[in-house]
Amino acid sequence: MNKRVDIPSNGFAHDEIDQNNSGNETFQHVLQARLSRRGLLRGGVGTAATAVMGSLGLSACGGGNNDNDAAFVEKPSYFSKLGFAAVPKSLADLVAVPAGYTASVIYALGDPLNASTPAYKNDGSEADFDNRAGDHHDGMEYFGLNVSGTERQDNSSNRGLLVMNHEAITDQFLHVAGTTSGTRPASESYKEITAHGISIVEVARSNAGVFTTNNSSAFNRRITPLTPVTLSGPVKGNALVKTLYSKDGTAARGTINNCGTGVTPWGTYLSGEENWAGYFGRVISDNTARGGATARSVVSLNRYGRAVSATAGAASRHGWETSGTDDIYKRWNISQTGSSTDGTDDYRNELNTFGYIVEVDPYDKTAAVRKRTALGRFAHESASFATPVEGKPLVVYMGDDSQGEYMYKFVSATNWSAADAAASNRIAVGDKYLDSGKLYVAKFAADGSGSWIELNISNSAIAAYASYKFADQADVLVNARLAADAVGATKMDRPEWCAVHPQTGEVYYTLTNNSNRKIDATSAQFVVDAPNPRAYQDAKIGGSLGSAGNINGHIIRTKDTGANPAATSFNWDVYLFGAEAGADASKINLSALTNDQDFSSPDGIWFSKKTGLCFIQTDDGAYTDVTNCMMLIGVAGKVGDGAKATLSYTKADGSALSVDTYVGAKPAADQLRRFLVGPKDCEITGCTETPDGRALFVNIQHPGETITKANIGDSSKFLSHWPGSIGFGAGGALARPRSATVVITKNDGGLIGS
Ligand code: FEO
Ligand code: CA
Ligand code: CA
Ligand code: CA
Repeated sequence: MNKRVDIPSNGFAHDEIDQNNSGNETFQHVLQARLSRRGLLRGGVGTAATAVMGSLGLSACGGGNNDNDAAFVEKPSYFSKLGFAAVPKSLADLVAVPAGYTASVIYALGDPLNASTPAYKNDGSEADFDNRAGDHHDGMEYFGLNVSGTERQDNSSNRGLLVMNHEAITDQFLHVAGTTSGTRPASESYKEITAHGISIVEVARSNAGVFTTNNSSAFNRRITPLTPVTLSGPVKGNALVKTLYSKDGTAARGTINNCGTGVTPWGTYLSGEENWAGYFGRVISDNTARGGATARSVVSLNRYGRAVSATAGAASRHGWETSGTDDIYKRWNISQTGSSTDGTDDYRNELNTFGYIVEVDPYDKTAAVRKRTALGRFAHESASFATPVEGKPLVVYMGDDSQGEYMYKFVSATNWSAADAAASNRIAVGDKYLDSGKLYVAKFAADGSGSWIELNISNSAIAAYASYKFADQADVLVNARLAADAVGATKMDRPEWCAVHPQTGEVYYTLTNNSNRKIDATSAQFVVDAPNPRAYQDAKIGGSLGSAGNINGHIIRTKDTGANPAATSFNWDVYLFGAEAGADASKINLSALTNDQDFSSPDGIWFSKKTGLCFIQTDDGAYTDVTNCMMLIGVAGKVGDGAKATLSYTKADGSALSVDTYVGAKPAADQLRRFLVGPKDCEITGCTETPDGRALFVNIQHPGETITKANIGDSSKFLSHWPGSIGFGAGGALARPRSATVVITKNDGGLIGS
């Protein structure tokens, strides 16, 4: 077979070479390329011509594909180089993409999810977020629908469901005159609560190749912090999760601070609960009520960020607990207020019902939303599956995003049966694979190796841990951070998302930054080590100094031994060190990033199944004097493709400190390029594609989030007006900024990245 057809080739497919660098293609050119490709797939141009003309008639020149052309849609076309021109760094209040690409807004904060809900006025007046897009769009996945929009069809690129997280809120913009401080009016709290959670919204591609949402789809819905969910796995029914809401500890209410995502092999959505702890408050006397500072529940609360001091309680983020006696507000106060011994008369255990990977069946509104407790409780980001292998366990990689936290993986007890991929009761399949298994934490060695340590109560380091007496295996999962402490896991520079390279199976973890990574560290800080080797100071425009530590972050990657994702050992190196292009190449810019490639604070990371390209998104506060947050695309190599490097430091006492690390191959100009720069004061997050690789969905989170109540009435003080300023929705040039989903297509209909 001609090796220029659209099959894995470690190079551009034929049509991508032809369409590259040629500006906007004529329809005839695209047609010829498709005739060539499809004809070859089917054994000859002549025999396929009629059928191909039919399918192109449906999709015109916008990059659409016949939904029935599964053989074409599912074939990867792995790229060995990038074909677009890098987007310059920018401080403009716009989404910039390369020449030849178009980015269009399709779904922003407040957009209606049904036909009876009016358009968003974007003036803070709406209250009905149960029927509207939530705020702070984050991780996102695409689930295909058949042509008639009635059921799951994984290979469909023309119609599907976008499922996305709404991580948090820019609260001032949700209200007409900003927030009320002190005692929060219930109406404000209710609005803020329901602007969190998850959206499911149908999208479809027109014959002209334009994506829009379908706001009358029967699949559209919101999941919020008030939606009933069930606890599943080993923690279900445990004493640690009994609350006034669920006295038998089997259920919980809603999900919050949903950040990264995952897709299961059976077609469901996974959502990671990240910074959930801060929404809950504790009064200063709560330690005493719980039995003193050494009480087990107090040790746990301290480890998960809800410590009270001698002089102050732990304040909740939004004060929702002040909004009255209704249970939906009371629950945000997790102080022990009742007299029961088991916590079923208050919300002292409420915090233990958050911090999980949550599974949602996007195709079935009636299916239970499950919290998968076997995957551990921490500040979850993404949940990325190793490629499933028949008869082998499923493996899910995960990170815990806080300074000095850990990298984890889950290995299912049940071996994979490919027949389950198409099962109709998808949540039952989730029960089969995600409720029982082993949870491991990563421990790195300085020689480039590492081990996965199982978090099991039978491990003597856990059973005999002096700082916390674990009651049972459910306790180990609820307090996974404490168990990981007990086994000496490696403290990392904030593990954010992780993603599995579809060709190599290697796992890429973003370590976003760590201002507490030091050369000379106190007990509350972290000393530079091989996998987290940098500590340096940011230089700002104008000559002042910014933060110190590992301020730009890095992307570490692991290769499980024997190409077996369930292995308990691995090798590692650093794919990329974030840095400014002009920074010291011996200490900071170790990956030799150029002006077309430099970035800071990697957060989202995702691989295209179609092209194998690596998408890197930033959530930065260090390089933002020079550029807004961005997305880059890379052709990722493999562990060991670079070289060892030695970083030399001088400690405060004058002694020398040297740290060896492993730097991946320095990216050539066509191996890593900036693809997108977002509007002002935003984060770029969430990345998913249509199965044909020709439409990419990306979220712009919290543009212009820096706003005070005092300035809410003065639009000249808003840092961003996007996307109203480009004509999307109400408000025009002076609009309140809105988090939003953009869809990116290549003007010639080509693959993203070509
Ligand atoms: Fe929500 Fe750690 O990113
Ligand atoms: Ca700087
Ligand atoms: Ca993020
Ligand atoms: Ca982040």
